[in-house]
Amino acid sequence: MSLLRTKPVLPDANDRGLKRVLGAWDLTLLGVGAVIGAGIFVLTGITAATQAGPAVVLSFLIAGFACACAALSYAELASSIGGAGSAYGYGYASLGELPAWIIGWMLLCEYMVAIPAVATGWSGYVVNFLQSMGSGLPDFLTHGPIDKLTPGLINLPAFLVVLAIGLLLASGAKMSALFNAVMVAVKVAAILLFIGVAAFHIHAENWTPFIPPLETTSGAASGFSWEMRLLDAIQLGLGFGVGGETHFGGVGIMTGAATIFFAYLGFDAVSTAAEETRNPQRDLPIGILGSLAICTALYIIVSLLLTGMVSYRELNVPSPVAHALLQIGQTTVAGIISIGAIAGLTTVILVMYFGLTRVLFAIAHDGLLPKFFAYVNPKTGTPVGSIAAAGVIMLAFSGFVPLGRLAELANIGTLGAFVVVCAGVIVMRRTHPGLPRPFKTPASPLVPLLGVLSCGYLMLNLATFTWTAFGAWMLIGLLVYFAYSRSHSALATAKH
Ligand code: ALA
Repeated sequence: MSLLRTKPVLPDANDRGLKRVLGAWDLTLLGVGAVIGAGIFVLTGITAATQAGPAVVLSFLIAGFACACAALSYAELASSIGGAGSAYGYGYASLGELPAWIIGWMLLCEYMVAIPAVATGWSGYVVNFLQSMGSGLPDFLTHGPIDKLTPGLINLPAFLVVLAIGLLLASGAKMSALFNAVMVAVKVAAILLFIGVAAFHIHAENWTPFIPPLETTSGAASGFSWEMRLLDAIQLGLGFGVGGETHFGGVGIMTGAATIFFAYLGFDAVSTAAEETRNPQRDLPIGILGSLAICTALYIIVSLLLTGMVSYRELNVPSPVAHALLQIGQTTVAGIISIGAIAGLTTVILVMYFGLTRVLFAIAHDGLLPKFFAYVNPKTGTPVGSIAAAGVIMLAFSGFVPLGRLAELANIGTLGAFVVVCAGVIVMRRTHPGLPRPFKTPASPLVPLLGVLSCGYLMLNLATFTWTAFGAWMLIGLLVYFAYSRSHSALATAKH
């Protein structure tokens, strides 16, 4: 039964050296920072062109619904249990050590895959931007050595952005939040500008057919063969949508929702700031739900306008938003959007990297990973041990080992964690009925149950390849647990 030993929920357990410097507004901006990025600037186009057509709006709604159920559940557990470990910590209190470890391992999957994938996308945008300004970098400095298409030496821009963000995170949570706020302002301004311009260039005929009929082959005749999509995706380091053989129709909307789910990743990272928040019980629910609401609204509007401006068939390009603006002759606005996209991808890397280090910190604090990961610099109050360790891995993936098709792993890892968080609400209500809950998930157990079902269903819509890679990742996790974590756990070694 030691596999299911639980950690008590103690009010003072969450002061472990990190500095409480963040408020509700910081958290909301961190959420928007983590969420809006490659999903809207890159994937919307690929998903519309290859999976859902203009009904990509419905894909956004479906994925948004699953996220809303998960976010409401997160808000309850974050306000009542808290802790930098986020879902990992909630699992430890409600389900036991092994389930908690499994959730933690899924969160590591989310962040460790998403960060290098977005860093590679960032590099693609920056290199394009530099080229359009008349300067550029040689190919060997923009591709890692095992890049199948164009082997080089290192993806230098991706490497440097991760390095710079690691240093920023080490300098302090408040400084990181300030930088994030400025960058979020730039990206949201760019999106609002797009909305303002696009609203006057809608051709309603582009929305017909809204749900294009099912196509069961992905041949060249359709104009967007899987090879083409693979090329586009690899160019941006985002290996999405390359496994499916069916497009459009109802199936396309659902596979599109599973893919576009990537656009929502990140609001959960807000909860990892629990130990750095001045008033976590009140501010965490505001940050989680507020950022998700803002992003969902922007996504629905942008995807509707984008598919109304140009035919969805034209959107299978690495920068669909800028592409659509170029089609209508808005060159300057397209340039501004690219700057917004670069700012957007920067904050995604920043906040996801933040989340990764906090989860590692919490796991190590419980003894399930080496203590080094839990080392906090007393001056800055930041977990420099996990920032450095995560940095080494992120730098390797960003600079030298492109993840390509593995990017979808981030979706499956996150969806898995969401399922358990939703289930955790139901379990905690039974096992800890008296626990103070500053925020309560409405209509429980219905909402958490809908969260389990919708997130589980999206998982089933991911490619077989993604499931295989996920299985391998989880297997490694179990090996680590039984070889190290179980015997080093603070609960195992505590003197009774
Ligand atoms: N949601 C983040 C993005 O779209 C990961 O880039």
